[in-house]
Parts: sequence; structure tokens; C-alpha cells
Amino acid sequence: MSFPALRPRRLRATKAIRDLVAETKLEPSDFILPIFVKEGIDKPEPIEAMPGQYRYPVGEHLVRFVREALEVGIKAVLLFGYPRDRDEKGLVATRREGVVQEAVRLLRREFGDELVIFTDVCICNYTVHGHCGIPVRRRKGPVEITIVDNDSTLEVIAKMAVSHAEAGADFVAPSGMMDGMIRAIREALDREGFTDVGIMSYAVKYASGFYGPFREALHSAPRFGDRRSYQMDPRNAAEALKEARLDVEEGADILMVKPALAYLDVISLVKEAFPDYPLAAYNVSGEYSMVKAAAEKGWIDERIVTLEILTAIKRAGADIIITYHAIDAAKWLREGLPF
Ligand code: PBG
Repeated sequence: MSFPALRPRRLRATKAIRDLVAETKLEPSDFILPIFVKEGIDKPEPIEAMPGQYRYPVGEHLVRFVREALEVGIKAVLLFGYPRDRDEKGLVATRREGVVQEAVRLLRREFGDELVIFTDVCICNYTVHGHCGIPVRRRKGPVEITIVDNDSTLEVIAKMAVSHAEAGADFVAPSGMMDGMIRAIREALDREGFTDVGIMSYAVKYASGFYGPFREALHSAPRFGDRRSYQMDPRNAAEALKEARLDVEEGADILMVKPALAYLDVISLVKEAFPDYPLAAYNVSGEYSMVKAAAEKGWIDERIVTLEILTAIKRAGADIIITYHAIDAAKWLREGLPF
């Protein structure tokens, strides 16, 4: 009888040995907590499709929620706005007293430099049609068609970014997948003197079914058509490198791949191609809600599965994870990883 000479199991024998040789570390400071802020409400509203998540008014509840995050070691938030009114071009998103702008000011006043504030820059949750760009009628030979116009949208999102910088954001995060959006925003920020405000680009963002719950949270689903003329085709991976390269050339400081879980291969590819840029991955609403739903049914262990998913996203190459699980995960991490 012959015995194995090589025994990988030696390195798995105890929790202490496993921790010692673990290749991937997961920490609360890896997380960015996404937060929905809504104008015109006075207490947090639960989001049905995202159990445990709320839309917050700009006020004491928001401050308390962010304080809770800081207390468990999370350093950063990403703000999304739900305005009282919407318009055709998303101009409400550029208002000085807009809901995100007010939230940034409040959090900055409250937490100073201890908190890293990211803001989402996209018009879909500020427009009546729900598209990330301005729809226009265009003549195509004998017919007229509706397209989502790239260049006129750049002007609006550049203004929006400047208004967030003025309010005190550290980073703006354009998510609309318009061509040239990073350059347009960088130029506008620099022109207005915000050379120190960074850009986290949703460089690689797929047209994904996993955004469903988020669109309920912000009522931002497109009223006609879909987003496939600007977000990426899930069949493509090499194209991710083109998108990332353009954003690097245009001045992005942090790159992002989104969603995360079904795109771990893309996270790997982008990290390998741009090792000198911090890479964020967005663990999106549908990924969150699937875990929540299965856990509610008692079919999976929420703690183990959540930490396994977040670890996998880091293992794939992400440095930063944007996740609705952030506070729970940070608390669980205090007890150590369950592996
Ligand atoms: C919109 C935007 C979306 C998300 C972030 N910014 C949705 C979309 O493209 O429809 C999705 C985030 C999530 O699902 O958690 N520009």
C-alpha cells in the first residue's frame, strides 16, 4: 500500500494554521457602504426588494447609520440620491441644494476627514425617463429614432460632479457609461479648482439583470427601452480592458467592475492589466437580495455565504468592495472569518 508523499491537508489542520497561510485578507476598511438618500421624507423608508436597506432623509438617522459604519471600521460611503422632482435632462441633479449635495455637507460637517465620501454621478434617478443619458430624436435616413445622446449628457454630469465637489465629496463616481465621461468630469473639476477631488470610474459596467432591486430602491428603471446601448454586453471580457484603458487615459483614479459575482473573471483581467490602479468591485443589489432571500428561507447560512462571496471578490483581484452587506460583514469579521 502506498501513501501520499505530499499532503496539502497539513496546511488545513487547524483554524490557526489556516489563518496563517490564508492568501486573501478581508477587512472592514475594504468596504464602501452604498447609501440611498431621499428628499422630502422625515424617517427612513425600508426598501422592499433589499431587506435591511433604507432610503434615508438627510438628517439624524443618516448620521447615526454612518456613525455605526465608522464604529465597525468602515471608512467610506457612496451616496445615491432620490430627488423630489425629476426632469427630462437630469438638471435637478446639479442643484446646489440637491439631496446628495446636502447629505455630503451634513456628513462632512459631522465626520470631517474620518469619512471618505463618494457620490454617484448619473442622471437615471433624476430623469422622468430613467435613462443614464438624455434621449433625443435623430434622423436615420428615412426614419426618426430615439437615441440616448452621449455628448449633451456629458455637460450635465460634469456639472453634477462639480456640485458634489463643491459640497465636499472626496470622489465622484460616474456610473452612466457615457463615452468620454471621465475626461469631461476631470476637466470640469480642474477648471473649477477641484484638482484634489478624485474620480472612481464605473469603467466596466455591464447591462445586468442584477440591478433589479436597486431600480426599485430609486425608481430608476428606464420607462422605455433598456440600457444595452450604453452598458456592456455580458458576453464580453476583452472589451473590459478597452473601457478600463480609456478611463485610465482620461484620468480615472480608481477603476470599477460591476456587477462583481458573475464577473470575477473580469475583475481578474482588469487587475492584471492595471495593477497600479486601485480596483473596486460593486457587489450589486441583486447579488445582495439573492443572499437575503435564500437566507430568509433558511436555505443558506447568511454569514458564511456573505463572507465567502466578499472573500471571492477580493481573491479575484478587487482592492475595494462596494457592498450593502458592509456593516453586517464588518461585524462578523470581528469574530474572524468562518473558514
Ligand atoms: C445607475 C446605477 C445603477 C446601479 C448603480 N448606479 C443601476 C443601473 O444601471 O440601472 C446599480 C447598483 C446596484 O444594483 O446595486 N447609473
